[in-house]
Amino acid sequence: MTADLAHLLDAERARFLAEHPRSVALAQESAHHFLFGVPLHWMRDWPTPATLFVREAQGVTLTCADGHRYADFCLGDTGAMFGHSPPVLARALAEQATRGLTCMLPAEQTAEVGRLLAQTFGLPLWQMALTASDANRFVLRWARAITGRAQVLVFDGCYHGAVDDTLVDLDTTTGATLRRPSVLGQVHDHHRFTRVVPFNDLAALEAALADQQVACLLAEPALTNCGLVLPDAGFWPAARELCRRHGTLLVMDETHTLSTAPGGYAKAHGLEPDFFVAGKAVAGGLPCALYGFSAEVGVRLRAAKEAAPEGHSGIGTTLAGNALTLAALHAALNHLHTEGSYAHMLAMADRLENGLNRLIAAHHLPWTVTRLGARMELQFMPRAPRHAQDVRDHVNDKLEALTHLFLLNRGVLLTPFHGMLLLSPATTSADVDRLLDGMAALVALL
Ligand SMILES: Cc1ncc(COP(=O)(O)O)c(C=O)c1O
Repeated sequence: MTADLAHLLDAERARFLAEHPRSVALAQESAHHFLFGVPLHWMRDWPTPATLFVREAQGVTLTCADGHRYADFCLGDTGAMFGHSPPVLARALAEQATRGLTCMLPAEQTAEVGRLLAQTFGLPLWQMALTASDANRFVLRWARAITGRAQVLVFDGCYHGAVDDTLVDLDTTTGATLRRPSVLGQVHDHHRFTRVVPFNDLAALEAALADQQVACLLAEPALTNCGLVLPDAGFWPAARELCRRHGTLLVMDETHTLSTAPGGYAKAHGLEPDFFVAGKAVAGGLPCALYGFSAEVGVRLRAAKEAAPEGHSGIGTTLAGNALTLAALHAALNHLHTEGSYAHMLAMADRLENGLNRLIAAHHLPWTVTRLGARMELQFMPRAPRHAQDVRDHVNDKLEALTHLFLLNRGVLLTPFHGMLLLSPATTSADVDRLLDGMAALVALL
């Protein structure tokens, strides 16, 4: 089987190279002045033998430099969850672009954007950043400042962006925190200040909180970055209660789980986090992130800032909250984060989930579809995982790479890294069927 997969993968690589001469040429040319030939080195983390260069992306149709068109289920790893360049957003950006981009002063729209944020996500107070990594970094700093506690807690397998404190792993035999070995240039002992527990493990969570040294639990409502891992029934209400009991703030990073329902997972499930973080798609894909917090937390943040000496707080960056981003956020909150958007996304997700499950059943495949709202993952394991180690135990790199490349060669883009599929308000039944046809062809071949 492994030899077969390698053989099939070689054939798909050859097909990609033959069909993408312009991308291949651009990859060579870009390598003269860009490290790895790309502006961000992750752009080489696709299973393609050469980088795929993009001519344009509109709705869920991405057109590559060779003129091939793809139905996009990666959607910029969630940045374009509401579709590429939604027309309402393009209009708002064009309008603001002639009226000032950044002033280090709030734009007139600020008060209204604040009202829309409170209405959309259910928390009363807000601050902005440019990336979800930054927003998480700033929240950790605030949480440590207002609790006076040094430790933070995350789940094994987490990803919250380029945030040093969270780039750690769990030693599953000793329970100790380990440096994540892939992280470059790491010199600080973050593992001294970050605790890690397995997802869905309330006993481990309680043990980590018991000494009341943990400032905050920073978590995605479901793990989405090491494969999709859903919370057990009752996990979050119990975890929420444990955090309250031990004076630990609950930070929900909804950068990906915004795809669950309007306003995100925590709002849909009445979780009442102390902080809420979102980035990527929150302003339709323009660089924008934000964090919201409760009124009670707001009082504590104000007191901490007022008690500190004048000078750098270590929180914020110059362009955060700029006028262009605010205009995009305003348009997104009014026109993208709507019941209508989600109704369509969820209907498309139903179609895809049902189709994949029919294929799995028809061929008795030991695979699982795990779904959260408009996001799902095809997992090459016979049941849904409960924690990160479960996912690691079932990794099948070759089959994953083959699935990506096979579908890409047939006009369908999946999220690299794992089999994540995201449905947008612009996704059509025909897009979904194209993916299902591609999967059926792959299964027939296997
Ligand atoms: C849950 C979560 N939080 C934060 C981030 C960081 O986002 P960014 O890279 O835009 O800073 C990511 C990125 O994948 C993420 O998945």
